[in-house]
Amino acid sequence: MRIKTRIVFFISFVSVFLNGLHAANSDSDSLILGCGSENEAKDADGRKWQPDSKYLTGSKGSPAQAQYQDPALLSEVPYMKARIFTSNATYKFPVKPKQRYIIRLYFYPAVYGSNNAEQSYFAVIANGITVLQNFSASITCKALTQAYIMREYFLAPLNKDSLEVTFSPSAGFAFVNGIELIGTPDMFGSATIVGASDQTFDGKITNLQTMFRVNIGGQFISPTNDSGALTRTWIYCSC
Ligand SMILES: *[C@@H]1O[C@H](CO)[C@@H](O)[C@H](O)[C@H]1NC(C)=O
Ligand SMILES: *[C@@H]1O[C@H](CO)[C@@H](O)[C@H](O)[C@H]1NC(C)=O
Ligand SMILES: *[C@@H]1O[C@H](CO)[C@@H](O)[C@H](O)[C@H]1NC(C)=O
Repeated sequence: MRIKTRIVFFISFVSVFLNGLHAANSDSDSLILGCGSENEAKDADGRKWQPDSKYLTGSKGSPAQAQYQDPALLSEVPYMKARIFTSNATYKFPVKPKQRYIIRLYFYPAVYGSNNAEQSYFAVIANGITVLQNFSASITCKALTQAYIMREYFLAPLNKDSLEVTFSPSAGFAFVNGIELIGTPDMFGSATIVGASDQTFDGKITNLQTMFRVNIGGQFISPTNDSGALTRTWIYCSC
């Protein structure tokens, strides 16, 4: 059954508000997984990415190495390795029932052995919510003129002790290079939806997707330079 949950798209322009929040989470609430990797590996920022296979239930797909490193990649880790799924595969992550989590998915649409990401279309379902549908990392990256892409979602509290994330190929295969799961404090209250003053949403129980996180009037902030432990990436704008 597909749970019908609204994903409210939001732009977190309010950097002052979010920056001021200090994460109440500890490292034990966070998972940083380099998909298809057999050993712990550090990225260019010094963060450690752990192997992913023990979190897969059933089909483990296959680990793969990208054939080519795009010069635009900030770091070899997690992008040069991937896990390829030719049929449905599900990760099961331990979570705290009442906690909100950020999940970040990293995709580098390259050629992985005989699997060319140009032929890959897939869905990602997290906690019953379809966060990506018939997704082509290749087409999306071309449209954005980026070598890689990260997608970030704030999941509402799950009310159970595990989070299931399913990769489901719709054509070709599915793949993923990295997955981060970060426990977060409650950041969102209720608010009126911009442009629809008769509608409100309750941030405590809503699933959200980050579109942009802009440090207005400030500089680029890398995950390790973020305040607290949420390892957010802030782009800057010279507006
Ligand atoms: C794979 O997952 C999709 C999405 O949840 C589902 O519609 C489909 O029936 C699944 N396929 C198999 C073979 O289980
Ligand atoms: C998936 O997207 C591709 C490219 O836009 C399109 O050609 C294809 O028909 C879509 N498949 C489904 C099942 O929607
Ligand atoms: C983090 O911030 C310091 C001080 O502003 C800066 O020198 C450093 O380059 C930043 N690190 C990254 C990875 O952006």
